[in-house]
Amino acid sequence: MRILISGFGTVGQGFADVLLKRSDLFRERYGREVSIVCVMDSTTYIADQTGLRLGDLLERKKVTGKVGNDKYSDSTEVIDSVDYDLMVEVSPTDIKTGGVGLKNIRHALGSGKDVITVNKGPLALNFCELVALAKKNGCKFRFEGSVGGAMPIINLCRENLVGERISSIRGILNGTCNFILSKMDNGQPFEQALKEAQQMGYAETDPTNDVEGYDSACKVVILANSIFGRNVRFSDVNITGITSISSEAISLAASQNMVIRLIGEVSEDRLEVSPRLISKGHPLSIGGTLNAAQIVTDLAGPITVSGRGAGRIETASAILSDLVSIMDDRKERGGKCQKK
Ligand code: HSE
Repeated sequence: MRILISGFGTVGQGFADVLLKRSDLFRERYGREVSIVCVMDSTTYIADQTGLRLGDLLERKKVTGKVGNDKYSDSTEVIDSVDYDLMVEVSPTDIKTGGVGLKNIRHALGSGKDVITVNKGPLALNFCELVALAKKNGCKFRFEGSVGGAMPIINLCRENLVGERISSIRGILNGTCNFILSKMDNGQPFEQALKEAQQMGYAETDPTNDVEGYDSACKVVILANSIFGRNVRFSDVNITGITSISSEAISLAASQNMVIRLIGEVSEDRLEVSPRLISKGHPLSIGGTLNAAQIVTDLAGPITVSGRGAGRIETASAILSDLVSIMDDRKERGGKCQKK
């Protein structure tokens, strides 16, 4: 399996780290390690068809801030110059236009390559187009880490719960807001809690996307399209963020044994992100940066999952699970991990 990594920020580097940590898994399961043939960051790239040394790349990025010596102006020219089987697209999220991530995913799927991404912008804006493109070209397109980071939800619903009728998913889908709200539960002002979330690296580059509910709304769109088979876009979600939640509202909720949490909800006829009152002790009353989701099914009843919604290694663990799934599938179909 020859992999091209598009994006070498927090998640891209985390993925490189995870591959190093799990080289034995690939050797034992497939008889060989995966080969990284190209890595691009926002301005530079490095490529080697015989396989790059991930440890060296991580070191160079740390020391110089760049992954390669060669600069590029058009990402698709770099992509076309490499022989690869699968793209891991983890460039920064742009939820207004889809950004370079959308361009790169389109390009890879259009060329018949498998893609794994955690990039929410392209998925929230162009989900159905990208899925159709993957289908047309016989490619795998997986995105488990785009919702809830390490918390299993998309593949859980699509694979393990495939026989269920899922009527709704309600969840805490943004760690930054949950962190802020739980700090406010303890009397900390909003601005101070947000600053702390930024310092700890949970918040998006532009934290407006977190606190106004836009990041959660992207995840609601991804869940609606991938699990409920809907064809919705970011603009279809009713969004209210947490910026107008006052300390008084938090205290009033506490006096009634409740907390306020930012909840994303998807069902057949509902797409919403809004602050809600949740009873203390309810599975969605969790604190800190955790994500959680309650999936309501007809046969199994309600199922609750929870886990770390962000983080370098945590998000990369979801990419690893998508990669293993694609490699297993290729192994089953052809006994090989390289596409013919
Ligand atoms: N800013 C996001 C969060 C990162 O706080 O949950 C993961 O999507």
